[in-house]
Amino acid sequence: MTTEKAIVDVRSQLVEVARDILAHSKADTIRPASGIMKLDSRLYSDQANHEKECQNLFKKIPLVLAASCELRESGQFQTMQIAGIPILLVRDKHGVAHAFLNSCTHRGAQLAKGSKARFTCPYHGWTFSQEGLLVAITLNDLFGDIDFKDYGLVSFPVTERAGLIWGTLDPSSSNDLDTFLQGFDMFLETFGLDSWRLAEKRILDGTNWKLAIEAHLEFYHLPVLHKNTFGPNTSNKALYYFWGPHQRLIQPTDSKENLADEHNLFKIADKPDEEWPTEAMTRGEWIIFPNVSINLFYDGGPGILISQVVPGANVNESQTIQTFLTADELEGDARTKVKDLSDFLEFVVSQEDLATSEKQQQALQTGLLHEVTIGRNEAGIQHLHKWINEIVSTGALDQLLSYPRKWTAP
Ligand code: FES
Ligand SMILES: [Fe+2]
Repeated sequence: MTTEKAIVDVRSQLVEVARDILAHSKADTIRPASGIMKLDSRLYSDQANHEKECQNLFKKIPLVLAASCELRESGQFQTMQIAGIPILLVRDKHGVAHAFLNSCTHRGAQLAKGSKARFTCPYHGWTFSQEGLLVAITLNDLFGDIDFKDYGLVSFPVTERAGLIWGTLDPSSSNDLDTFLQGFDMFLETFGLDSWRLAEKRILDGTNWKLAIEAHLEFYHLPVLHKNTFGPNTSNKALYYFWGPHQRLIQPTDSKENLADEHNLFKIADKPDEEWPTEAMTRGEWIIFPNVSINLFYDGGPGILISQVVPGANVNESQTIQTFLTADELEGDARTKVKDLSDFLEFVVSQEDLATSEKQQQALQTGLLHEVTIGRNEAGIQHLHKWINEIVSTGALDQLLSYPRKWTAP
C-alpha cells in the first residue's frame, strides 16, 4: 500500500491553527471530545493484547528510531530495543543510516560494541561491516563451508525524513511512510531537526507503554501531579489538533503572562499573518503516532525534547527515551543550563509521571477495576486509542489512503 508524498501548504495550515488557538485563548474555551470514552482496563494488563499491539502496530508501521543528528558521522552507531527486538542503528561510510536486528548470524549473540569500521561479535569474533555484511569469521578453514553472502545481518527498511530515522521492524509490512504520515512530516520539517545537535540522552524505565505515552497527551494532570515541580501556575487545559493518527496539543496562550516572549500569539496577533514567525505557530507538543512526543521549548534556551516511549516484550515494561537537542554545540554556562534542564525533565518524568504509571499498572493488573474513563478534556488520549484500535485489528493503514490532509479537531 503506497501513497504519493503529500504536498501540504504548511504555512496556511499553521496560520489557520494559530488563529484557532488565539480565538480559544481569548474566549477561554477549549474544544472537548463529544463524550467520555471507557476503556477495558485489561488493555493495560493483558499480555496477549500486548503481543498483538507489538505484532500489528509496532512491527507493521514506520517508527521513529532516532534523530538523524544522533548518528551524524559515518561509523556512529547505537543500540536499542523495541518490543523485545534488539536493534543496531548505524550510519555507514557513505552516510546511509541502517537498522539491523542486533544478532550475529552465527549463533545470535548481540553486537554490543563496534568500531569506526566494523562490528565484531563478542562471542566467537565474526565481523560485520557497517552495511551489515559478514566480512570475516574466526578459524575460517575449520568452521565449514558457508557463503558469506547468506550471512549478512537481518536488515530493516529505513528512511530518513524530517531529521528523523524511521524504520519498520517487519520487513514484510506493506505500510509505507507516506501513507502513514500524509504530509505530517512537512510540519516536522519546519523544526529543522537536521541541523540540531544531540545534547543529552536519558533512558527511563516505565510500565505499560500506553500509560507512559498517555501522560504526554493531556495537561489535566499538570497542576496536581506536578505540584512540587512545574505544576503551579500551569494551565490544565489543552487544545488538540489531529492529523490522521498524529496530533498536536498546546495550552491556550496566556494573554497576560510571557508577553516578553516574542512568540506569544497575542503579541503577534495584530501583525499581518505573513509576518508571524513559524516558531510562534509550531510551539507545543507534537505527537507522532503512537509513541513519540516532540516538545519544542523556545524559552529557557532553545531546545527540543524528543520522548520515545518504546514497549518492552512484556505488557508491564516500557522505556522512555528522552533525547534533548540544542541548536548549537554548547559550552560553559549554556551547556550547564541544558544539562540542568535535562536533569529536571528526567526527574519530573521518572519520579512523577512514570512513578504514577507504575502504581496505576499495579492496581490495574489486579483486574478489580474493570474500566478506566477518558474525559472529554482528554481528547488526545481518546484519539490515540481510536487509532490503536483501528490499526491493531488489521495491521493496515487503509483508513489513511483517503485522508484529506487537513487538521481536524475533537
Ligand atoms: S555468535 Fe557471533 S560469532 Fe558466534
Ligand atoms: Fe506529566
